[in-house]
Amino acid sequence: MFWDQDNLKGLIKERLSDFQIILVSNREPYMHIYRGGEVETIMPASGMAIALDSLMRTCGGTWVAAGSGEADREAVRNGDALMVPIQDPKYKLRRLWLTRQEERDYYYGFANSALWPLCHVAYTRPRFDSGQWENYKAVNRKFAEVILSEVTDPRRTIVFIQDYHFALLPRMLKEAEPNLVVSQFWHIPWPNYEIFRICPWGPEILDGLLGNDLLGFHLQYHCNNFFDTVARTLEARVDLEKFSIFHQERETRVRPFPISIDFDRFEAWAKSLNTERRLRELQHSLNLSGLKVGLGVDRLDYTKGIPERLEALNIFFRKYPQYQQRFTFIQLGPQSRLHIPSYKQLNALVDSWEEEINSQYAQGRWKPVIVLKGHYSQEEVVAFYRLADVMVISALHDGMNLVAKEYVASRVEGEGALLLSPFTGASRELTGAYTINPYNPEETADAIFQALEDPPEHKAARLAAMRAWVREHNIFQWSALFFQALIRLPKED
Ligand code: G6P
Repeated sequence: MFWDQDNLKGLIKERLSDFQIILVSNREPYMHIYRGGEVETIMPASGMAIALDSLMRTCGGTWVAAGSGEADREAVRNGDALMVPIQDPKYKLRRLWLTRQEERDYYYGFANSALWPLCHVAYTRPRFDSGQWENYKAVNRKFAEVILSEVTDPRRTIVFIQDYHFALLPRMLKEAEPNLVVSQFWHIPWPNYEIFRICPWGPEILDGLLGNDLLGFHLQYHCNNFFDTVARTLEARVDLEKFSIFHQERETRVRPFPISIDFDRFEAWAKSLNTERRLRELQHSLNLSGLKVGLGVDRLDYTKGIPERLEALNIFFRKYPQYQQRFTFIQLGPQSRLHIPSYKQLNALVDSWEEEINSQYAQGRWKPVIVLKGHYSQEEVVAFYRLADVMVISALHDGMNLVAKEYVASRVEGEGALLLSPFTGASRELTGAYTINPYNPEETADAIFQALEDPPEHKAARLAAMRAWVREHNIFQWSALFFQALIRLPKED
């Protein structure tokens, strides 16, 4: 069945109209900031938040998230909430406030200095600190209290939690209200047992996650790692026939749901007059006219393989000098999690690679590499996608990588080449991509050359196949499959 916004709406109306949906994430879909003395609304640099905004616009309900914009408090109305999107309100955004210490310990600390590097095999060592762990628990409890205060009828409420910031929240919710339907999607990889076992609080994390009725990962492989981790850590029964775990007389179903994007929204942005105008402005301001363009779009994160990509570009310009003054690579890299030392180091490394490559090859107006670290709206990023003949995604490890799908959806003119690391979830689906191993910069350099040289009809065929896939396997399908799995819960029980 082909899923779009309309039939997802139909499914919700038919099967879930009595239910209140509460979505929970750390990162909010809309932030308020000050610009030139005015309060402005922006969407954060998170493919996850943008994809789930499309879901919430369709099903309505409440989204609970931490307020993180400097003007967020000024923008809320009664009860720390406001209706969003501001121009066309569809759902309620309920903000919760963290103290600086909580943010430091829970977000920068346990979530992003322990769990993030633990789950991504990118050879950055996780740091475990008991004070941070205590505040991670306290913040999960704080979220539980706010969520419970939003529930009107626990028998008719679905809580849909996002990600690794909330490993303990499902159990807390179930203990407080056993009738709630609690589900979670883990947007990052789940490592194998050998890796996970170093975490000093592993059993508590697993017990917390088994408070869910349904737990989703991107890949079957991550589900298998999770089953194995539970079997070796807890007194629990793992049923591989049913893909369920039985623990403390409760069942948690564990299933793969590869997340995706709102294809039509990206296609519409890509075709808009605004994008056409931006395209021309960018060509002019970045001196791109007559050049082939390469692109990377990532939060500045060590899992994304950005220095590895720049190293490959350095080889590319040396090995294929015919592309000097004919090809420019643009890296969009909004800064991220900068209080964490490994992110500071990465930031400096990216600067030094940019400087190194440009000092060797730049001539006159032409620059081989341009790194732009500012914040761009999703619509603005689409103009960059439209510019890019070659898109390079060299993540060292990534649960999905929605940028890959966004690029494919934005190439409305039917050209363009996607270079994709096999260590992303997206590589299982986007088989028309050129595969690159980010740990082998020479191979990546050769793949950039090959992608530029391949006949256009060859690239068009690869792209067309990927566009057809993403059009069908979109965020509405993902949501429908997740909700269908949830709806079936009571029946199968
Ligand atoms: C990853 C996580 C998301 C998160 C995003 C941005 O994709 O899975 O939950 O929103 O990164 O990270 P940030 O720390 O800025 O929210």
